[in-house]
Amino acid sequence: GFCLQQVCCLSVLMMAGSTLRKVKSRSWKKQRHFRLLEDGLTIWYKSRWAGKGHSTFSVMDVEAVREGHQSEVMLSIAEEFPAELCFTLVFHGRQGNLDLVADSPEEAQAWIQGVRKLIHKAQTMDEQERQDQWVRDWFQKADKNKDGKMNFKEVKKLLKMMNVEMNEDNALHLFTMADKCESGSLEIEQFVHFYQMLTQRDEVWKVFQDYSGDGERLTLEELETFLRLEQGEGDQSSQHAQQLIQRYEPSETAVKESSMSLEGFQMYLCSQEGSVFNPALLELQQDMNQPLSHYFISSSHNTYLLEDQLRGQSSLEAYIQALKRGCRCVEVDCWDGSDGEPVVYHGHTLTSKILFRDIISTLKEYAFKVSDFPVIVSLENHCGVEQQTVMATHLRQILGEMLLTAPLDGQIPHMLPSPQELRGKILLKAKKIGGLETHLDETLTDEVSDEDETANGDAESPSKSKLSRELSDLVVYCKSVHFHGFEHARSQAKCYEMSSFSESKAKKLAKDAGSEFIRCNARQLCRTYPSGLRTDSSNYNPQDMWNVGCQIVALNFQTAGLEMDLNDGRFRQNGCCGYVLKPDFMRDADSSFSPDRPEDRPGYKPARLSIQVISAQQLPKVNQKEGSIVDPLVRVEIYGVPQDQTKEETGHINNNGFNPVWNETLNFIVHSPELALVRFVVEDHDKTSRNDFIGQFTLPFTCIQPGYRHIHLLSKDGTAIPPSSVFVNVNVSELT
Ligand SMILES: *[C@@H]1O[C@H](CO)[C@@H](O)[C@H](O)[C@H]1NC(C)=O
Ligand SMILES: *[C@@H]1O[C@H](CO)[C@@H](O)[C@H](O)[C@H]1NC(C)=O
Repeated sequence: GFCLQQVCCLSVLMMAGSTLRKVKSRSWKKQRHFRLLEDGLTIWYKSRWAGKGHSTFSVMDVEAVREGHQSEVMLSIAEEFPAELCFTLVFHGRQGNLDLVADSPEEAQAWIQGVRKLIHKAQTMDEQERQDQWVRDWFQKADKNKDGKMNFKEVKKLLKMMNVEMNEDNALHLFTMADKCESGSLEIEQFVHFYQMLTQRDEVWKVFQDYSGDGERLTLEELETFLRLEQGEGDQSSQHAQQLIQRYEPSETAVKESSMSLEGFQMYLCSQEGSVFNPALLELQQDMNQPLSHYFISSSHNTYLLEDQLRGQSSLEAYIQALKRGCRCVEVDCWDGSDGEPVVYHGHTLTSKILFRDIISTLKEYAFKVSDFPVIVSLENHCGVEQQTVMATHLRQILGEMLLTAPLDGQIPHMLPSPQELRGKILLKAKKIGGLETHLDETLTDEVSDEDETANGDAESPSKSKLSRELSDLVVYCKSVHFHGFEHARSQAKCYEMSSFSESKAKKLAKDAGSEFIRCNARQLCRTYPSGLRTDSSNYNPQDMWNVGCQIVALNFQTAGLEMDLNDGRFRQNGCCGYVLKPDFMRDADSSFSPDRPEDRPGYKPARLSIQVISAQQLPKVNQKEGSIVDPLVRVEIYGVPQDQTKEETGHINNNGFNPVWNETLNFIVHSPELALVRFVVEDHDKTSRNDFIGQFTLPFTCIQPGYRHIHLLSKDGTAIPPSSVFVNVNVSELT
C-alpha cells in the first residue's frame, strides 16, 4: 500500500498521471490520461490518441469527491465495475459530474484522497494565497512551452487574456522592476510580484491616506476611527481593529506595533469581512421556533429535471443539486410504472423516467447534508391506487424515522409546528382523505373519491381519482386542498391545509387582496408554481410572491438567471438553511400591511440607500474574441414591494475590465427594507445589441454592511468568480 497521510506523496502520484476511464453513460466510457499540473491545483486530461485537444479544471471548482457507485451514472455501470474502482467528482454550481473508473483500488484511492486533500488546501488558503494562486494559474496557462519563463511579449499577451488593458510603457516599467536579474523574462514568483505592483489600487490608497497620519500605516487608533466613522461600527471597533490587524496584516513588524499597512488594509477590504454582506447574518441566527408558516422556504419546481432541457433528462442528480443549494421543498411527479413500480418524469413528454423509490433513497441520503431543517416532498400524484400504496410502502421503508407520519404530540394542532421541532424530518405534501381528526378512524374505506382533485397544481389529472389510504395517512401538516377564497379560509380552513397557485392566479390574488393574502399566509402554508406555458423551464419573479407572504415559491432551480439570483440572495442568510423568517408585520394573522401601501403600516420605517460605485477589479472577459476588452457598467436593482422596484446604473467605461473607476453615486428610497433585495449587476455595454452579463451579486437589504465594501461577483450560474469584485461605499440612513 501507500501512505494516505502524505499529501505530497499523493500529489506526486497525481502529477505522474493515471489513465482513468471517463464515463458518461452505460455506453460511453473512454480512457483519458489525467494528471495534476505543477501548480498543484489544476487537473489536466486528454485522450491518449487524440491530437492536441485537452481539458482542464481547477480543484477549486470541485465541491466533493464521492466514492464508489454514488452517482446515477455509476449506479448504471455498477455491475461492470466494482465500487472500489469508481469515484465521482462533483462540481460547484450546475456543471455536471465527472464520473471516473481507475484500474486498481490503490489508484482510485490515490485520486480520491489526493483530490480531497487539495480541496481542503484550496478551502483553507488565506486571501493572499488565493490571489497568488490565481495569478500562478494564469501563468501556467500562458506558459505554452512550459519553460517556466515569460518574456515581455508573452506577458503582454497574458495581460490581455486576463482582461488587463495597459499602457505599454507602464507595463514595461513594471516588468523591468520585477525582472531583478535582468534576464528579459519573468519566472513565476517574479510574475506574481509584477502582478502585485500592477494591482495596487489608487482608490484604496486614497481612503487609507484619509485616515493615516503618516501616510505609511494606520495606527490602532486610526484604524478604529476608520471603522467607527466609515464602516458603521460602534462600541466593538477597538477590539475589532486589533483582530483585523492580526488577521490581515502581512508585515510582522506592523503586527508587533499594532498597526496596519496599505497591503493589510487592502487585504481586509477584499476579505469576506470587508464584503457588503454582513458576515454575522450569514450564520444561522434567526429564531427557528415559530410556526412553519412564518418562514419563506427555499423551494424547487419540477425538481427531477436537469438543466439540459433538450435531452429532457430526469435525474436523481437534480435532487442532489437542489438540496445542495439549500432547497427545502422538492417536487415529485409520479406516474404508474410498467412493472408495478411508480416512476417520476414530466408527464406526457419525452423526458426520461426515474424510479420513485430511487428518489426517496436519494432524499434519505442528501436531505440533511446542508441543513437540518425539514424537507417537504410535494407530490404530484397521477398514479392509480395500487401504485400509490407502493409509494407509501417505499416512503415508510426507505425513510423510516425520518418520515413524519403523525402529529408531533398526538394532538390536533392549532398552529403549525416550527422548523426546530421538525428538524431532520421529511414531510409529505399531498391530498388526504379527511383531516387529521380522522387520522385514527379505521372505519373509512380504503378508496375514497377525492373532491379536492384540482388542488395540487400544474399537471392535469383525471377529475375523479382514487386515493390510497396508506398514502393519505402519511400526510400530516401539508394537506393539499382546493382554494375556496379567503373568506372560507378564515372561517373553515385548518392550519395544516394548504393550496397551490399558478403564478398568474397568485399575482391576481396579490393584486386584488394583498392584505388578506398576507393574513392567510401567516397561518397556513401556500405554494406557487410557474405557469404551464413556461415549457422552457423559465422562472417568474419570486419577489411578487414573497411580498404577500407566500412561503413555498417553487422555482425551476435548473434554470439560472435573475429569478434564481433573487432566490439565492434571499436564502444566503441564516446559514443557507433554506428557511428565512418573514418580517414581523407578515407573521401577524391580524396584519394590516399591504404591499401596495407600505406607508400605512404602523412602524413604517423607510430607508435611504446611497451607493457610491467606486471601481471594479479584474472582471472576467465575456467574449473570448481576440483583442476584445469589456466596456463595463454597474447597475443596482432593488426588488421589493411595487414602489421599491427600481434600478439605477452608472455610465459605461470603455475598454477596461481590469480596474475601471466610476465614482458615481446611485440613490434609492426603500419603503419596505425588511422585504427588499438589492442586486448588483455588471454588464458589458454594447452599442448595437443587448449588453452582455458579466457578473452579479444579490443580497437582502437587511444584510448590507455600510461603508467601504467589496461586492464579490458571481457567475450566471451562481458560482464565485474570484477575484472579480466591485468596490463601493454604501450609506444606509433613516429617511427623515
Ligand atoms: C474619484 O473620487 C476620488 C475622491 O473623491 C477622487 O480623488 C478621484 O480622482 C476620482 N476618480 C475619478 C476617475 O473620477
Ligand atoms: C450617510 O448619509 C446621511 C444622510 O444623507 C448623512 O447625514 C451621513 O453623514 C452619511 N454617512 C456617512 C458615513 O457618510
